[in-house]
Amino acid sequence: MSDDRSVPLLTVIDSAATHRGQVVGALSHFYRVSDYIDTISALRAVRAQPPDLILIDDLAPPGGGYEFVRQLRQDRTPGLAHVPVILTSKLEDKAIQEGVRRCGADTYLRKPYRYSALLKTVTTRLNQRVEAQWEHLPPAQRTALRGTLDVFQSLSEIIETGTKIDYPSMRHACEPLVEVIAQNDYRALLQGVKSHDNYTYAHSVKVATMLCLFGSVIGLDRQEQLLLACGGLLHDTGKMLIPHEVLNKPGRLEPDEWVVMRSHVPVTLDFLQASLQIPKGAIIIAAQHHEKIDGSGYPKGLKGREVNDLARMAAIVDIFSALTDRRSYKPGMPVEEALALMTGPMAAHLDQHLLRLFRELVLDTAEGYL
Ligand SMILES: [Fe+2]
Ligand SMILES: [Fe+2]
Repeated sequence: MSDDRSVPLLTVIDSAATHRGQVVGALSHFYRVSDYIDTISALRAVRAQPPDLILIDDLAPPGGGYEFVRQLRQDRTPGLAHVPVILTSKLEDKAIQEGVRRCGADTYLRKPYRYSALLKTVTTRLNQRVEAQWEHLPPAQRTALRGTLDVFQSLSEIIETGTKIDYPSMRHACEPLVEVIAQNDYRALLQGVKSHDNYTYAHSVKVATMLCLFGSVIGLDRQEQLLLACGGLLHDTGKMLIPHEVLNKPGRLEPDEWVVMRSHVPVTLDFLQASLQIPKGAIIIAAQHHEKIDGSGYPKGLKGREVNDLARMAAIVDIFSALTDRRSYKPGMPVEEALALMTGPMAAHLDQHLLRLFRELVLDTAEGYL
């Protein structure tokens, strides 16, 4: 479990020791977790440090989960009364729904539930808080984040149902991104997406924004910047089909997990090529962003000039983002350390001319906001 204070803190209250242990074990890969067997010790703890989310069983002793939530909603401890609560129960859906409504919990999970359902419910609730904070951003940045999030959510539906992307509406959603870059007003946007709990979304918006910024600095026009933004947002679409536990695994992947992880490139390509309107540049970014100039990349092991310029830019932004992003299991690497790694041990992988330009761009304009 991370000690990083920016990692969300979850409170789990359940008197069933085995079940509680399993839930805590699953969540601890991604969050800080405190667990309690009764509501009295839990209430004391959450008053001392309000968590970001509470998961409570309806039978938690002595008074039960519903009573705990009622009490919580009236508590005067700053920041506690509105903490999102997920109730868990073995009752029938209808009975739980009624209880959730009456006590003021946010949602429920019916036991037994799947590990994936637990993570999805937790992520959704945490993100609602992050997204609510976007209301305070300047209009262009708020529109950019809301628009790209809508697109991203529709992409996950599209990829699951096998339908096609509506590229014109995607391009429309990315226009505010190009606008905030033109106005040199993107920093709060990068800050706003930082704590979003859907990592693929947060990473994709960061890559889209920085690719667009990169494009503007090297003199590409707004249409080309828009293409870079769309390409950045789409480049890892295939990761939506990768199991959460592989995608967010702390530490090294096993060889079989690595095969699954790398499959996100062909999966993304199948998906983009099936949607006939996607421009070639965006497809190239998705196809080649893990290729390396020395031929050691994947999926094709392209070498030198075989790697397209757009993909060279995308690889730089993608690696920089992966290194500097905070994950549940690691803090973000400082900007200068990441750049040193990219110009040193990783030098043979990347286009050094473009990297020099990118380095200047980062040091001049974006430091402190990444
Ligand atoms: Fe990727
Ligand atoms: Fe990526």
